Formats: sequence, structure tokens, C-alpha cells
Amino acid sequence: MKGIILAGGHGTRLYPLTVSVSKQLLPVYDKPMVYYPLSILMLADIRDILIISTTEALPHFQKLLGTGDQFGVSFSYLKQDQPRGIAEALLIGSEFIGESPVCLILGDNIFYGTSLPERLQRASQIDDGALVFAYQVREPQHYAVVTFDYENGETGLATSIDEKPQHPKSNYAVPGLYFYDNKVVEIVNDVKPSNRGELEITDLNRKYLESGKLSVEVLGRGVAWLDAGTHASLVQATNFVQTVQDRQGMMISCPEEIAYLKGYIDSDMLLRQAEKLKNNSYGEYLFKVLEVGG
Ligand code: DAU
Repeated sequence: MKGIILAGGHGTRLYPLTVSVSKQLLPVYDKPMVYYPLSILMLADIRDILIISTTEALPHFQKLLGTGDQFGVSFSYLKQDQPRGIAEALLIGSEFIGESPVCLILGDNIFYGTSLPERLQRASQIDDGALVFAYQVREPQHYAVVTFDYENGETGLATSIDEKPQHPKSNYAVPGLYFYDNKVVEIVNDVKPSNRGELEITDLNRKYLESGKLSVEVLGRGVAWLDAGTHASLVQATNFVQTVQDRQGMMISCPEEIAYLKGYIDSDMLLRQAEKLKNNSYGEYLFKVLEVGG
């Protein structure tokens, strides 16, 4: 399976922070925001990854992430010159996707929690239809909202999906993490721009729903899903990461650690990364991972 991180947009909700810096490069505690969705793809065993961002920001992502060798993955880069909608990522990335199924993740979405790696790996096996997640939130009207038929406690088929509805039909928001079969490269061509002129990811997902192929998996209480798109949510995400890391002494979404534990990189490569960062706690952590295996 291939992976796409969409990290474009103007980030106007975070102005003036994002006038000169891409939102997805801002810090969430001790690492750039994009490390969090990147780690999610790696935990799903996805190693061929396309980063999509704006013309101005793309060189900064390239400087930060390079070829991907340091994480044992391969990065490609493409630009989205205007934010014409989340679904446009699949058009921009269609050649990259080729014959594969694909996972799309938004560059400002952070996930952490019990059994997430196993569930991500299962999701990445999809070869027919699409899979989205459902996460209970207090204010669903700010997100895509989904209803579904329960097959069992955790999964079902979507029965409705609406983008930021005024009157949500459920409290289940759809996070910015989507798994698709390869048909998505054709289906996305049928999505028309919405009233606000964007190719809406929810319109794409509705096409799968209409053919009875939009699966929904609930992410329950044991999972944290945060997006870091406003001043308040950015601070909340930072506080969350700091609190958990400080308590446990283990990092949330450290791509070097994930790469090492999965065998994507060897100890020499991890040592090289640790040496580069050795003047701070991130580097010290990498030395610890080397010593004890995480
Ligand atoms: O976070 C989950 C939500 O993300 C979903 O529940 C919604 O269905 C989905 O539309 C989206 O809602 P947002 O209000 O967060 O969408 P926003 O336009 O802010 O875009 C989300 C991220 O994607 C943001 O970091 C910028 C980036 N983006 C967005 C668009 C429209 C792009 O890189 N290019 C784009 O064209």
C-alpha cells in the first residue's frame, strides 16, 4: 500500500503563526507536526510515501525529510499550488498511486492509543472498497459526520456521511485518515467541486457509500485523535504529548524509533541519527532506543 500525507493549505486559522511557516512543520511539543501522521503511515507498514504541500513549503519538507533513508522509507514530493480540496491529493498523486491501494492522511492529524498499530496494519490490507474511522466528539459539526450499521462492536458499513453538517446525525466525526482500494484513482475523477470550490473528501467517500463499500471502524476511548489546526488545539496537542511522554519516558510518534523497531533501519543508521541530534532530549532518546530497543 502507498501513503499520501497532505500537508498544504494556507493555515489561515493559525495566522500569524503560519504566515511564513507551513502549519504541518510547526512544533507539537518536541517534533514537527508532520512526524505524527508520518508515524501513523509507518505503523501501518506503509513505506512508499508521497508528501503533498504548497510550492513555497515543499522545499522545507524536503529539507526536513529528505529521501526517507533515515527512516527506512521512500519519500516523493508533489505540490498543490492552491488548496482545491482534500480529495485533490488523490488526483495529484494518481501516478504515484499507480496500481496500489492507498492511504491518505492529513498532515495535522495526530493519533495515539491502544492497539492502533494492529488496527492500522489490518486497515492497510484493504483491496475492495474504502475504510474510514469514526471517533466520538463533543462538537461533531466541525467535521465530517458518519452514521453506520454495526456489524459488530467496532466495524460497520456507512449509512450516511455529511461534511460539517449543521444538524449532525451522530456524534461520530471522521478523522483525516482514509484507506482506499485502487479504484479511487478512477472514482475521484467523478467528484465535482463543491459550493466552496473544493474537491471534498466527503463527496468521494459518499461515492463509496453509495456502492455499499464504505466501511467504518470506531476508534474508541482508548485512542486519542487530535487535530492541531487552531491555536487552542495546537497547545492541547503539545500538552498531551508532553504529559504522556514525560510520564512514560516513551515518545509518541518518533519515526526513527518506529523504523528501528520495525527493522526498516539498522543500529548504524539509528546511531547516525542520534549523533546528529545528540545535544537535546530527542537525540538522547534515540541513544536509549539503541541501548534497550525502545
Ligand atoms: O480533521 C478531520 C477533518 O478534516 C474531516 O472530518 C473533514 O471531513 C475534512 O474536510 C477536514 O476538515 P478540516 O476543516 O480540517 O479541513 P481543512 O480544509 O482545514 O483541511 C484539513 C487539512 O488539509 C489542513 O491541514 C490543510 C490541508 N489541506 C486542505 C485542503 C482543502 C490541503 O493541504 N489542501 C487542501 O486543498
